[in-house]
Amino acid sequence: MLRTNNSNTLVEPSISLQELQKHNKVDDAWIVISGKVYDVSDYVTTHPGQEAILKNVGGDSTQGFTQQPAHRVVKNHISSLLEKFYVGDLSPTDVKHGGPT
Ligand code: HEM
Repeated sequence: MLRTNNSNTLVEPSISLQELQKHNKVDDAWIVISGKVYDVSDYVTTHPGQEAILKNVGGDSTQGFTQQPAHRVVKNHISSLLEKFYVGDLSPTDVKHGGPT
């Protein structure tokens, strides 16, 4: 169900760990970066780092993503891509428990 926050902005429903883990294939690929879930299915073949993007597919890519120096160089480009890939937030309970490994 769609909800709104105090500023009346649409809030995406939160995504459970169980739901996230279903999207762990090349053609159905969700990853988490800093608690946000992104559908990168259409980007796998375009990604300059190729299939490395799938290392933690269906799970948490925060660490690998933030540690990759190439991503820092092109951070504006990446931000605009991530806006398009955004699916919703990982459920706060699952983030609290460390999220997927
Ligand atoms: C929304 C856009 C992008 C996402 C979500 C993304 C995500 C990722 C992830 C999850 C990894 C694996 C990190 C690890 O665990 O080691 C990775 C690796 C990498 N990415 Fe990206 N990436 C994006 C865009 C880009 C762009 C634009 C570039 C190039 C300018 C790039 C270059 C690389 C390189 C060089 C690697 C390492 C490849 C390897 O280890 O063989 N990525 N990326």
